[in-house]
Amino acid sequence: MFEAIKPAPPDAILGITEAFRRDPNPQKINLSVGVYKDETGATPILPSVQEAKRRLLETERDAGYLPIDGDPRFNRLASELVLTDRSSILAEQRAATMQTPGGTGALRVAADLLHRVLPDATVWVTTPTWPNHPKVFQAAGLRVEQLRYFDAAQNRLDFAGLLEDLESVPAGDVVCLHGCCHNPTGADPSPEQWERIARVLQDRAVFPLLDFAYQGFGRGLDEDAQGVRTVLEHVPEAFLAVSFSKNFGLYRERTGALIAVAEQPEHAANVLSQLKACARANYSNPPYHGAAVVKTILDDERLREQWLADLTQMRERIRSMRTLFVKTMSALRPDRDFSFIEQQNGMFSFSGLTPEQVDRLRDEFSVYVVRNGRINVGGMTPQNMQRLCEAIAAVL
Ligand SMILES: Cc1ncc(COP(=O)(O)O)c(C=O)c1O
Repeated sequence: MFEAIKPAPPDAILGITEAFRRDPNPQKINLSVGVYKDETGATPILPSVQEAKRRLLETERDAGYLPIDGDPRFNRLASELVLTDRSSILAEQRAATMQTPGGTGALRVAADLLHRVLPDATVWVTTPTWPNHPKVFQAAGLRVEQLRYFDAAQNRLDFAGLLEDLESVPAGDVVCLHGCCHNPTGADPSPEQWERIARVLQDRAVFPLLDFAYQGFGRGLDEDAQGVRTVLEHVPEAFLAVSFSKNFGLYRERTGALIAVAEQPEHAANVLSQLKACARANYSNPPYHGAAVVKTILDDERLREQWLADLTQMRERIRSMRTLFVKTMSALRPDRDFSFIEQQNGMFSFSGLTPEQVDRLRDEFSVYVVRNGRINVGGMTPQNMQRLCEAIAAVL
């Protein structure tokens, strides 16, 4: 049987990293990866995480499984981080939270349940979106359609196009929106635009699946949650897929949560029981360690403060690289306007580079970018900025 199996196409982004590794140029620059990098080019273990791990090593005594829906204290802390500890949704017990293996695990469990209860539903995703969105939804058996989202000519959100497309989504379908720091464009709706989006979701009776993978990477923990909180003020029901991979630097620990918001507490409890059935048939129960780290940090005042400082440092480094990039590019190419890079949020931006320009950057300058022009601002450092901008200026 195996003889008949052809190789699957390689992952486009991971393939670039392979090519980067093989490149002998000592000045090579990789802007293609999806993880945060510090000034030395490393993906750091945050000091707060390091300390939490140390404490866990000293105190852990049990090696048994977690419950299917994970650690209840982690679930509570995760939902408070997203919804606040003053949330009326939490006070009214209208949310059920389940620990999942990363944000991807949350998306997959959500998609499995959606397919069970809405077998004919379509999931509408933004154009472009994180490439794994359609793959996860289709693997669960759901159909996927696209919404307009990005105006490539103006390098900004195509809000009119998005709104118009949302207004024609059939009632009962699912709309997947990025809570903040849109991947791959970095273009997010403003608070006023979120308000309009929330109203349309409510009026059209479509089901929001909010993917929240970058809380704290854009403007701040609360500022970044403003969009999802606005949507939840308007709609009776939603799923929130939360990832702690980026904001705690726990990528390989697979730490996330799925929050189901319901109209009634009984609905939330019933949904949770079905989500557990989906998880049981998939990965059985979630991994312990990353969630234990998050719980240890959020439950301890001093560690939490340290984590907030760690997160602020990552966010401000990204912001300062955006500013420096715009300044350096403007000096080299005063005829081009790169100010949009400074207005965008999170690790990613759409640079506007064409696939041919991306190929030249790789072949002539050892600068690696995803072919759609997405750049990871986290790959920029004060040391590589001049060389990077000169390479971009040369291929433009
Ligand atoms: C938009 C978006 N959603 C979800 C995820 C999933 O993150 P995790 O690593 O926690 O599965 C990512 C990770 O890159 C992402 O960019």
